[in-house]
Amino acid sequence: MNRRPRLPRWLYAGGSRRDRLRDPDVVASALRVKPGDIVGDLGPAYGHFTVLLARAVAPDGVVYAIDADQSTLDDLRVAADERNPTTLRTVLVPRDRLEIPEPVDLLFVSATYHHLRDPARYFSAARVFVRPGGRVAILESRREGLLAQWMGTHGGPSGRVRAVMAEAGFLLTATHELVPGHWFGQFQVRPQP
Ligand SMILES: C[S@@+](CC[C@H](N)C(=O)[O-])C[C@H]1O[C@@H](n2cnc3c(N)ncnc32)[C@H](O)[C@@H]1O
Repeated sequence: MNRRPRLPRWLYAGGSRRDRLRDPDVVASALRVKPGDIVGDLGPAYGHFTVLLARAVAPDGVVYAIDADQSTLDDLRVAADERNPTTLRTVLVPRDRLEIPEPVDLLFVSATYHHLRDPARYFSAARVFVRPGGRVAILESRREGLLAQWMGTHGGPSGRVRAVMAEAGFLLTATHELVPGHWFGQFQVRPQP
């Protein structure tokens, strides 16, 4: 097998799509989604996680596959229909804000956080789409270390994700060391004083 050499963490700590999708069941089970839940998957791309989540909420839940790119949603629809989840809906959104049909129990954001131009503003406004007791789960390549700094900040260093989500009005409630090279955390809306 053609494996990428692992670099020392001080030089580069980051994960790839392959790391993320090696065992999507492990990620999906950490999300503790149950039948009847309303879930949003922001930036589903090919739907590797989306279809698992759509099965987990069946028979009467809903998974919204939320993307700013219509062709991505069209491709996902075709791919998903072959696997026949009846709980999947696609939603086209503007790039700068979340607009979905109803609040969710879980908003899952895998490798999409770094695409958001102003994540603090995005998630602050998105709080109205998180049900009471609901969660936002962020899975993001760490992209930390000297090499990542030199290359620019394409990914989301874990400290920055936490700080931005705090600014947006969220509390960190769990972290998971499940995906190599990735930071994986869950947040709840911080109660207003
Ligand atoms: C790198 S892919 C992530 C795919 C998948 N979630 C994963 O973990 O591999 C990023 C996805 O986010 C979508 N996207 C990028 N910017 C977005 C935005 N501002 N709002 C919604 N979706 C966006 C892209 O079209 C793409 O489907």
